[in-house]
Amino acid sequence: MRTGNALGLTGPFLLFAGFTGIVTASEAAFQECISPSCRATYGVDETRVGCAACGSLLDVAYDWDRAQPPRDWELLQQKWSRRHDPLCFSGVWRFRELLPFAQPRHVVTVGEGQTLLQQAPAVAGYVRLNPDCLYLQYEGLNPSGSFKDNGMAAAFTHARSVGARRAACASTGNTSASLAMYCAVTRLMKAVIFIGSGKISYGKLSQALEFGALTIQIAGDFDDAMHRVQQVTRDLGIYLVNSVNPFRLEGQKTIMYRVLEALRWEVPDWIVVPGGNLGNSSAFGKAFQELKQLGLIERLPRLAVINAAGADTLYELFERRGLRWNGGQCDLAIACRYYDELDADRRKASTIASAIEINRPVNLTKCLRALEVCDGVVRRVSDQEILDAKAQVGAGGIGCEPASAASVAGARLLREEGVIAPSDRVVCILTGHQLKDPTATVAYHTTDQEQFNKVLGSRGVRRASFANRAVAVPNDLDAILKALQLYS
Ligand code: F0G
Repeated sequence: MRTGNALGLTGPFLLFAGFTGIVTASEAAFQECISPSCRATYGVDETRVGCAACGSLLDVAYDWDRAQPPRDWELLQQKWSRRHDPLCFSGVWRFRELLPFAQPRHVVTVGEGQTLLQQAPAVAGYVRLNPDCLYLQYEGLNPSGSFKDNGMAAAFTHARSVGARRAACASTGNTSASLAMYCAVTRLMKAVIFIGSGKISYGKLSQALEFGALTIQIAGDFDDAMHRVQQVTRDLGIYLVNSVNPFRLEGQKTIMYRVLEALRWEVPDWIVVPGGNLGNSSAFGKAFQELKQLGLIERLPRLAVINAAGADTLYELFERRGLRWNGGQCDLAIACRYYDELDADRRKASTIASAIEINRPVNLTKCLRALEVCDGVVRRVSDQEILDAKAQVGAGGIGCEPASAASVAGARLLREEGVIAPSDRVVCILTGHQLKDPTATVAYHTTDQEQFNKVLGSRGVRRASFANRAVAVPNDLDAILKALQLYS
């Protein structure tokens, strides 16, 4: 049932327009090249996905003296109780003083960021952490079912501020679902999405189709779609909302603010996050660096980015080939050589965790910076490990999609290696909802060997050690009672 609220808007979706309260104005914000040897700056009224001078990625940066950020957590805490105010209800915009780039009249929210940090003692046992040490940040609770809504609220707001009429993305499914939703709810823009043919799960595809996005299926994978969407948006002047857009990452910083809020502003020891296009990891590093700069935290958590083994570019480059941010003197020839090898071998990303089936992450350099800032590590986990971890998370009552469970599988691996200690406080980010990709879940729990082989066996998954199999019985009361007796 939809409920009214004090502003006369109806939920669950709230579109904010014409807010007259206090949001720090955008004069204090600008865009800045991430390369320390360039540092070119651009206004926030410009639409760019890279530095015009050197081609590096851009940050949204702030003159904090002018922006007047909060000096303690009290102000942010107070907002929590003002649920009737759409900008305080939003899990993104109630932290707006920490991402003060938007003019009040442009801000858009659909009620994103009502997410949960759940202590998970049973899953902690699986990860081999002390029972009170594992927390799951459940971003599947967002309106479109994934963390993307955090970033989309911010990018969409920026798109609105520059008068965009069309917005586009390449996607493994969640970005497109989120963009299509913001377009459908607000009617401010038309969504154009580029997806690899057969590469996104039905849960996500169904969202984009039903929300009315113009859906372009490319005969290729995400990396191909990403390449094409950048060409098309440049040539046609369409607003690009992929995480190469720095405003997206401003919204994704708030995932970390909510984690800290739930932990009463105590910094955990580890943040563990799946790595695909590397937007989250980049945003998290930026969030913590800024909080430290503002004196809101005293230390930074360590960051662990987890690749799927079948899409492990970051792992290969960081852990095997020694690529580092190196204070901005990043030896990108190492990455270029690796990409040439991928091309020469015609190697494509391949994992059951389709959300992170990405070989050419657009935020590579920003992620390397985050790894440096947060003393990070990178690991890779197999599809078998991902699905087993997902089943354990599900058995604890939280449904996540395969890519999300990479974080839990990665935390387990890091515990086994002794990199994470049993008493470390660990937060795993569950990036998307279980219902996004029921095919993988049902195949894991199935009794039908053929289906198992088709969906999972082909990916090297051999066992379903934590399967909860359905019991097949004839339509006969005695047989049903017998089955109940036997299995309960
Ligand atoms: N988990 C889920 C559920 C995702 O959808 C994605 C990315 C990631 C993790 C990886 O996050 O890019 O910040 O490292 N999905 C994008 C998409 C690429 O198109 O929906 P990242």
